[in-house]
Amino acid sequence: MKITVIGSGYVGLVTGACFGHLGNQVICVDNDLKKIAKLKKGTMPFYEPGLEEMVKLNMKEGRLKFSASIPEAVRESECIFIAVSTPPKENGEADLTAIENVAIQIAKSMNSYRLIIEKSTVPVKTGIWVEHTIKIHKRKNCLFDVASNPEFLREGQAISDFLNPDRIVIGVESKRALNLLKRLYAPIRAPIVVTDIKSAELIKHASNSYLAMKISFINAISRICELTGADISKVAEGLGLDKRIGKQFLQAGIGYGGFCFPKDLDAFIAIANQCGYDFRLLKEVRNINQDQVTFFIKKIEQALWNIKDKTIGILGLSFKPETDDIRFTPALTIIKSLLEEGAKIKAFDPKAMDKFKLLVPDITYCRNPNEVAKGADCLVIVTDWLEFKSLDFVKLKHIMKQSVIIDGRNIYDRQALESLGFRYFGVGR
Ligand code: UGA
Repeated sequence: MKITVIGSGYVGLVTGACFGHLGNQVICVDNDLKKIAKLKKGTMPFYEPGLEEMVKLNMKEGRLKFSASIPEAVRESECIFIAVSTPPKENGEADLTAIENVAIQIAKSMNSYRLIIEKSTVPVKTGIWVEHTIKIHKRKNCLFDVASNPEFLREGQAISDFLNPDRIVIGVESKRALNLLKRLYAPIRAPIVVTDIKSAELIKHASNSYLAMKISFINAISRICELTGADISKVAEGLGLDKRIGKQFLQAGIGYGGFCFPKDLDAFIAIANQCGYDFRLLKEVRNINQDQVTFFIKKIEQALWNIKDKTIGILGLSFKPETDDIRFTPALTIIKSLLEEGAKIKAFDPKAMDKFKLLVPDITYCRNPNEVAKGADCLVIVTDWLEFKSLDFVKLKHIMKQSVIIDGRNIYDRQALESLGFRYFGVGR
């Protein structure tokens, strides 16, 4: 099938590459000319495991092209995915101006039937506005449908999430649209939930909010564990084995970050409010998440007594492992606060340092965890990258100034570290 994906960010690029991989003819569009020029040369704008190889292969085999021109791409494709960003406004609502602009350009370029599919996370009822916008701007008298097909990709494993999803959600208002989307997803084995457009839009916000709620729930329990001497890892294990609860997303730590949960929660609270519902539950989810970072910073202060002039080693800057994404990363809040208190910061991240340097240039960036540890008063684990799990602690003990580990992701065994002479601080245990 001939497909256009407008917006070549995390969602759009993975979607385009994967649809190409499934044998379709795909054009990925973006208005960032530099990004398109780089993509044409096979250079990715961000790190996502397996993406570069997939993009290059599909370009070579003629199934994936890049373009800066919406009209050209729209003329060539029957299915058009909108995957542009919907960033947060100051009041937490999603800014939908990019969606509107794209809808106008699609409308002006359509020359025969087109299916326009919302892929970006959008507030419920956005589909109605997209349809209205296309109706008033289309130049030719051609038919079109709007659909909602939200993505559930996780950064760091987006390709496998795309190709092996738990479910595919299709929000449509016509048989023609449903048939096109079913054909497109035919090679993928997964349950398909067919619904109206508004319900599909809601499924996305409800899913992300539920997952964020699970994380805040376990983080709240971790606080009670600390107050009582219980162990959050065991509590999570005992909870998660109940099939109705499930094991995933019960990892206590320093809270969720990234560009999805924080902004989607804000947006959902704002939409609910506009509809006349005060979503207090989600407001508390957000509060608990913010508290968790503040509480973690206090933990560092308590472990070191005074922060001023102490050297603090930070392991991990991205909001989670296997990505270079630093948007809404807890690392930024933690480092800024420690800098304000007069600490000297040394940091290492396997992928995110280049991006982080642009935000915080004046700390010492190291080439590996050992370099971070040298002369440090403590090591703080912010991101649970796999390579941090197998550090040589005997060596670290010798090169650190003080043997203190503050583990924001509970990746180490307390007893093992204490037996080596470290002071160990985890979360909720
Ligand atoms: C999230 C959703 O998981 C995807 O399904 C969704 O498609 C995506 O948002 C989106 O809306 O585009 P992502 O932001 O890539 O994906 O990251 P997650 O793997 O969900 O992790 C989010 C945050 O929660 C991370 O900061 C992670 O460290 C934290 N987390 C996760 C925990 O603190 N504990 C856990 O048990 C799980």
